[in-house]
Amino acid sequence: MVKRNVNFNPGPAALPLEVLKTVQEELLDYQGTGMSILESSHRAKEFEAINDQANALMHELLGLGDNYHVLFLGGGASTQFALIPLNFIPDGGTAAYVDTGEFAAKALKECQILAKAYVAFSSKEEKYRRVPKMSEIRYPQDAAYLHLCSNNTIEGTQFREFPDTGKVPLVVDMTSDIVSRKLDFTRFSLIYAGAQKNLGPAGVTVVIIRDDFMATVKKGLPSMFSYKIHADNKSLYNTPPVFAIYIMKLVLEWIKGKGGLAGMEKINRDKQDLLYGAIDAAPDFYKGTADKDSRSMMNVTMRLPSEELEAKFIAEARKEGLLGLKGHRSVGGIRFSIYNAVSLDDIRKTVDFMEKFRKAA
Ligand SMILES: Cc1ncc(COP(=O)(O)O)c(C=O)c1O
Repeated sequence: MVKRNVNFNPGPAALPLEVLKTVQEELLDYQGTGMSILESSHRAKEFEAINDQANALMHELLGLGDNYHVLFLGGGASTQFALIPLNFIPDGGTAAYVDTGEFAAKALKECQILAKAYVAFSSKEEKYRRVPKMSEIRYPQDAAYLHLCSNNTIEGTQFREFPDTGKVPLVVDMTSDIVSRKLDFTRFSLIYAGAQKNLGPAGVTVVIIRDDFMATVKKGLPSMFSYKIHADNKSLYNTPPVFAIYIMKLVLEWIKGKGGLAGMEKINRDKQDLLYGAIDAAPDFYKGTADKDSRSMMNVTMRLPSEELEAKFIAEARKEGLLGLKGHRSVGGIRFSIYNAVSLDDIRKTVDFMEKFRKAA
């Protein structure tokens, strides 16, 4: 038996063990082809089937109709920070951004290189401790879109509801919470997510675009920068990240086996209740850093009474096989990234450790 630790890495992150085993089994001879999928052509029928299945699963799990294009691209979520304004802001136009964390701010900054950006809300002065109430988000009605980040990976905050933007297209960075909960995904004009948290390994980025929004993509863009060209070519305009897409397809099947997004959400809610429960049960020792009504179900952030105790917590946890707990370098503290592949049992083990650590401190 291989020893597996509990992996709280924020991304790349834990993958389901069942998926890793399938990858291992199929690695040398993919379904009787006598070669690995790593060595296969992206035009081969085996890969085309994977590409089509991953696309169909994404539609099925998110409840999307044929009016949504699902693209699998390289470049990471950070490339989309630039491609979105490039594709959708008309010359002289503007877009609106909700600033709730480091990645949301990066998206805003990239837009500002290319066009005018309007800040619709910012919690920067409050150390990004919260996401806004819907009534606090204000933007011009002629904005090309409103952009927000549904889950702030570093700060541990998450949107529970989304603004009704009327005619203004809603664009969402779901890198750290896609496929973790059931939502009405048809409210969004564009959703994007780097795969490396809930979907699979690093290397592929999912971009989902509704037809009516796709119709507004600017003409004359370099081919690789145009969402329309990628959609017209079923994400095969150039060589896609084949291996990452293959693993993502396996992860999507695994999620389907867990009862889809409703099943996944139930498990994720139980996990968060247990973990936040352990934090709130010892408020003089463990202090959650996000405002309670903005807390994330995916990234749970907390501080201990001193940095020395935090370092000790991380070191002792490591001895128990609990890894990846150091908060982001910009904020410090402790962060538990509890994406889909982290189990409820993993969290039980963690809260037992927290209790033991607190009593011994
Ligand atoms: C919410 C969010 N957006 C964007 C990014 C950047 O993604 P990438 O590294 O794929 O460019 C991250 C990375 O952690 C993230 O958490």
